[in-house]
Amino acid sequence: MRSFFNTILRLIVLLGLIALTWRFFSRRSSIPCPTWLSWLVELDNPFFKNYSARAIMQHLALEPGMKVLDCGCGPGRLTIPVAKEVGPAGQVTAFDIQPGMLQRVRDKVEAENLSNVQFVQGGAGEGKLGRNQYDRALLVTVLGEIPDQKAALAEIFESLKRGGILSVTEVIADPHFQRRDSVIRAANSVGFVEKDFFGNRLSYTINFEKS
Ligand SMILES: C[S@@+](CC[C@H](N)C(=O)[O-])C[C@H]1O[C@@H](n2cnc3c(N)ncnc32)[C@H](O)[C@@H]1O
Repeated sequence: MRSFFNTILRLIVLLGLIALTWRFFSRRSSIPCPTWLSWLVELDNPFFKNYSARAIMQHLALEPGMKVLDCGCGPGRLTIPVAKEVGPAGQVTAFDIQPGMLQRVRDKVEAENLSNVQFVQGGAGEGKLGRNQYDRALLVTVLGEIPDQKAALAEIFESLKRGGILSVTEVIADPHFQRRDSVIRAANSVGFVEKDFFGNRLSYTINFEKS
């Protein structure tokens, strides 16, 4: 029994070290969450209810016909429910740096028979998003994976319509977790104004407005 607990403890320490190393090197270069780990991204962690797709959706105030950017969409945990909510008159752009993640979203879009999702492969800050396009932009556990956060946020700011909302969600269980004050500082530096805060220090969503 004792050796069992020792093994578990070692495993936890090892995972912690991997997470810290990953976080450290992500500050300098892009090391995105690999596609084979997308099943982990999709788990609705029971310990962090604010992080569930359902909770995040509730804070977006979506309406039929809206245009939404899912920046760092991963396997489409949010892309699919958002596409259903904005309906055929609306549109979602699934944007991710990894083609493998976009393929996962494509498979789901086909299975759900949705026609209002477009796919763009690239990194935020690389100039691939248009100007004054979107009513909403989502950054759900993505910001910490982006080395040049200012460039990424500035591009998202430009891509939103005036009055558009950037919704940033972070959870402590993510190795790239970003603290509330650092997210606010980065968003303010490109012109966003904090509008709403939901959750707590360990798991939260902040909505910023392009006013
Ligand atoms: C932890 S996953 C989160 C996925 C999704 N937002 C969710 O919550 O289910 C982070 C995603 O951000 C993507 N990503 C990382 N850096 C990016 C960048 N510079 N631009 C766009 N996507 C990026 C990764 O490829 C990965 O799919």
